[in-house]
Amino acid sequence: MQIISAKDYGQLSWQASKLLEAQLVLKPDSVLGLATGSSPLGIYEELVRAYQAGAVDFSHVRTVNLDEYVGLPGDHPQSYARFMREHLFSHVNIDPANTHIPDGMNPDAEAECARYDELIHRLGGIDLQLLGLGPNGHIGFNEPEDYFPAGTHKVALTEATIQANKRFFDSEDQVPRFAYTMGVREIMQSRHVVLVVSGESKAKIVKEAFFGPVKPQVPASILQLHRRFTLVADEAALSGVSK
Ligand code: GLP
Repeated sequence: MQIISAKDYGQLSWQASKLLEAQLVLKPDSVLGLATGSSPLGIYEELVRAYQAGAVDFSHVRTVNLDEYVGLPGDHPQSYARFMREHLFSHVNIDPANTHIPDGMNPDAEAECARYDELIHRLGGIDLQLLGLGPNGHIGFNEPEDYFPAGTHKVALTEATIQANKRFFDSEDQVPRFAYTMGVREIMQSRHVVLVVSGESKAKIVKEAFFGPVKPQVPASILQLHRRFTLVADEAALSGVSK
């Protein structure tokens, strides 16, 4: 595990965006695994800036997103499909046909999850997977469980996640109860994993996930076993482990 410690969220976003930019310069047709949530927002802003400055080209890039809420159409304001369009895809020269997100409107969970895993394999796997960290240690929507879930699957969101994500909806009962999420297998098979985490509210889970035992009750802890895992965190998020 490589740790990049940033002073604050701005520096963290800048540092992490440089890792993605380097990936695209070295391999212009990279498969990027992308994440939603508030943590990667600064990275997407930096990437748009880099694109506008002519420093990166997305014309050959392929993307696979981690997850999507079940039951939300792609144009719903809180769908992850819309999030990605608003924060990244509509601002860069990526071909929409090369962007992939689980289809939250497919009622056949088994078929949707199998389709998504096949798609990732057909693309040749993920070159760089970007992750945020849920307050309960989830990655994507891999929630704390008694086992590590392997492939893409339908997951019942935990009460902690519903509480954490209700800020984005008009009311708590509008938060979807289920999501489709990439499993830890495809995440762990990515050639490089970059997790970004910011703020004191995540300090406790950062300590548990990356400085404690590997266990499915803290899904992100499995990343300690990844050959090329970069944790990009600000000082506040690292405050539980530094000194
Ligand atoms: C959501 C997403 C995760 C994300 C997490 C943390 O539940 N499914 O991929 O990492 O929230 O979000 P934030 O970065 O807003 O704390």
